[in-house]
Amino acid sequence: MITHDRDLSIDFCGVRFRNPFLLSAAPPSDDLDMVRSAFEAGWGGAVLKTTSVETEPVDLAYPMMSALHYEGGRIAGLGNIDLISEHHIDVVEQRVDMLKKEYPDRVVCVSIMGSKKQEWQELVKRLESVGVDIIECSFSCPQGSMGEEPGAMLAQSLDATERVAGWVKEAAQRCPVVIKITPQVTNIVKVAQAVKRGGADAICAANTIPSLMGVDVDSFVPYPNVQGYSTYSGLSGPATKPITLRTLAEISKNVDLPITATGGPVTWRDAVEMMLVGATTVQFCTAVMHYGYDIIDDLQDGLAFYLQEKGFGSPSEIIGKSLDRIVGHADLPREVKVVSSLIESRCVKCDLCYIACRDGGHQAIKLEGSDRLPQIDHERCQGCRLCVTVCPAEALEIVKAPE
Ligand SMILES: Cc1cc2nc3c(=O)[nH]c(=O)nc-3n(C[C@H](O)[C@H](O)[C@H](O)COP(=O)(O)O)c2cc1C
Repeated sequence: MITHDRDLSIDFCGVRFRNPFLLSAAPPSDDLDMVRSAFEAGWGGAVLKTTSVETEPVDLAYPMMSALHYEGGRIAGLGNIDLISEHHIDVVEQRVDMLKKEYPDRVVCVSIMGSKKQEWQELVKRLESVGVDIIECSFSCPQGSMGEEPGAMLAQSLDATERVAGWVKEAAQRCPVVIKITPQVTNIVKVAQAVKRGGADAICAANTIPSLMGVDVDSFVPYPNVQGYSTYSGLSGPATKPITLRTLAEISKNVDLPITATGGPVTWRDAVEMMLVGATTVQFCTAVMHYGYDIIDDLQDGLAFYLQEKGFGSPSEIIGKSLDRIVGHADLPREVKVVSSLIESRCVKCDLCYIACRDGGHQAIKLEGSDRLPQIDHERCQGCRLCVTVCPAEALEIVKAPE
């Protein structure tokens, strides 16, 4: 249950969200009753999983999930070999109709994929006629786009991105058009510029990252093992957040289009970080698949308390607030010498800072005396921050070097 009474509403391309959090196009939005549960829980909107015209077959292979677990934690990253929804437009248009009647204050978006101009435009027209709020176009399924060469994603071609965005925009009479791109490109800014040239209203950045999730060293079969074979997965979840942040920042700094973020958020803090580098709304998938729809309570409370504590009136005030703090490497300040400093009361004497500095840093930490407390040699220490990153007890910090 949420405990705040703050207005968290936000405008995205002229569409009002009651909060900036929505389900992304994925299994949590691929069933009518599941979306109803999400709306009951408090989600501001949902992008229904990518749909297509009835004539396009969707041939799934199981099992489809595998994960990168790390040091006892589950799902640092989730891999999937899913395709678009098995529910074609005939089913999805009915769902949109029902959801809009039952939940008029929630934003219903639908993700679409076609192979030809006529398919893309038919999908748009049918969805608009049943009241969809936003059309999102999947140009970035890691298993490839329809009608393209096998495995290729539309958003990896600047020409295709501009052309197909133009087709969709031409057909859309009422709804904003969002293009969902892939981070798997050499220059994300050029892709975002192609989206803009195509006339689309916004960008969804970005889809899962093509990956090979691991290899079973006994059977030699990579994960997921589909009857002795595997294929490349789309990686999502917490491990992808830094890539998403970079993608958002690069687009926001260079292209004037609103962005809905996807890729890695789990907590309200993750979402705030994404907004600080340019996202207007934040989409969730893996976190919901792991912890359920009820995470929306923490997301709303966390954002509300953050805004209150920082003195912001509404979520829109934080969008892009960190962008001017991102500069090229050559422009980083270098005047002040910094060093590492120990907060003795927190040290658990695990030696990890000592080992890391000895073998991966500047050999500036010594364990001296019978208490084995780390001693930092400020002559050798460059303030690289490796020790801070390995310390499990937050017992080290970077400070200005003493005179
Ligand atoms: C099992 C699975 C299926 C997905 N299917 C789709 C899809 O049909 N269309 C789409 O645009 N994105 C799809 N995605 C990508 C998600 O919408 C989302 O962009 C991605 O998982 C990154 O966000 P996350 O880190 O919050 O999971 C899928 C993701 C998963 C895990």
